[in-house]
Amino acid sequence: MSSLRFDGKVVVITGAGNGLGKEYALFYGKRGAKVVVNDLGGSMKGTGASSSAADKVVEEIKAAGGIAVANYDSVEFGERIIETAIKTFGKIDILINNAGILRDVSFEKMKDEDWDLIYKVHLKGTYACSKAAWPYMREQKYGRIINTSSASGLYGVFGQTNYSTAKLATHGLTLALSREGLKRNIFVNSICPVAASRLTETVMSKEVLSSLKPDYIVPLVAWLSHEDCKETGSVFELGAGYISKLRWQRNQGYFFDTPFTPEDVKEKWDEVSGFGSVVYHPQTSSEIFEIFFNKEEFVKQQKEGKTKSTSPSQNAQPTNVTLKAEKIFNLMRAFLDRGEGKDLIPKVQGVFNFEIILQKGGPVIKSWVIDLKNGQGSIKEGKEQADATFNMIDDEFERVCQGKLQANEAFLKGIMKIKGNMKKATLFTPSLFPAPTPENFAKYSQAKL
Ligand code: NAI
Repeated sequence: MSSLRFDGKVVVITGAGNGLGKEYALFYGKRGAKVVVNDLGGSMKGTGASSSAADKVVEEIKAAGGIAVANYDSVEFGERIIETAIKTFGKIDILINNAGILRDVSFEKMKDEDWDLIYKVHLKGTYACSKAAWPYMREQKYGRIINTSSASGLYGVFGQTNYSTAKLATHGLTLALSREGLKRNIFVNSICPVAASRLTETVMSKEVLSSLKPDYIVPLVAWLSHEDCKETGSVFELGAGYISKLRWQRNQGYFFDTPFTPEDVKEKWDEVSGFGSVVYHPQTSSEIFEIFFNKEEFVKQQKEGKTKSTSPSQNAQPTNVTLKAEKIFNLMRAFLDRGEGKDLIPKVQGVFNFEIILQKGGPVIKSWVIDLKNGQGSIKEGKEQADATFNMIDDEFERVCQGKLQANEAFLKGIMKIKGNMKKATLFTPSLFPAPTPENFAKYSQAKL
């Protein structure tokens, strides 16, 4: 594969004197870009300033044969940073909004200064640099912007109300800006990195930090900022060599007959707030209107237990896959049908639903009921009034049945979810049945698919 080069491109990286920004700067310098190394050079809490952080990185780039210039302004004054790019190199192609500080403190003890400074560096800084770069990118019909968000913003972290807010807002800017830039070949994405740096060295152990090398963040940033990459408006979580894209999800929802009351909402709370068998992946703010103004269709489908996905089918969960669980339940069924499980009935005296999913939090693809209470025991597809309901990912279910993953461990790690009578649930274990080995599949030949 030919290497992704950035020859002739001008890249501005904020906060490039340390940590992630420094890694990006060195990388772009080696791959042919002209680099503006911005860094205020202050402390991780945002106090002080120094030119040495940016200068050292510029020296390192130049020593390796690259082209770079330093800028020491705070990102709040984005226009000055972009001006450095324009004055020195004549244009700006790529902007990596990376500068960051932390001011962790509980909300109760937070001072206005902690809130304001985090806002200024992360959100205002990202805005100010993007705003200054925007006219140039529009004019040349080319631009790549990477905004640095954080898992703290996506999920919320105790003691980081200021930072979580600014970081999620940064992704809001990405989402809206990506739409404005689309026609002008300006693509905007967010990353939520996890890497060893002075920001994380006080909160993570040395052992953990050693596998979170900052240079593992570089490949995604490089690809997203390359002219061949057409990705825009996305957010990625990454670290330790792992990269994944995130998206919003909407549950099936519930349409009330209007007018309706708070009591109605209470009564239908499971439908309103739960994530059941159907999942929507909204892509635009206007998609909800497709539901709002198609009530009849929605209610009809709701009644029939069917729903329509509001977004392209490639985003929908596959429902016609062949599950590994299918083969295993067939094996268990054959065992019970032959009457070989009748000793289990007095011992277990329970009915169990099994919901098989394909990924954590995903919809149920297929369910089975195992009756170890009546007759000689039976297994069928569907759901019933049961003593306990197990919910598991198909692959993990197979691993438990093969004895490769202990059921206890699966439960403790949240891989296997159990609802209902926990005591009864512990009486069920796949080891009550023949193991899913080729020999057993052959022996209980009905189990063959
Ligand atoms: P770092 O502290 O090593 O580097 C940040 C750099 O930004 C520093 O060199 C600092 O001087 C500079 N800076 C701070 N305020 C500035 C300002 N007003 N103007 C210009 N430069 C300024 O931190 P790290 O870890 O490399 O962080 C980079 C970005 O990644 C930050 O936005 C951070 O919030 C984000 N991030 C980092 C994570 C991690 O695990 N390291 C996790 C999630 C997000």
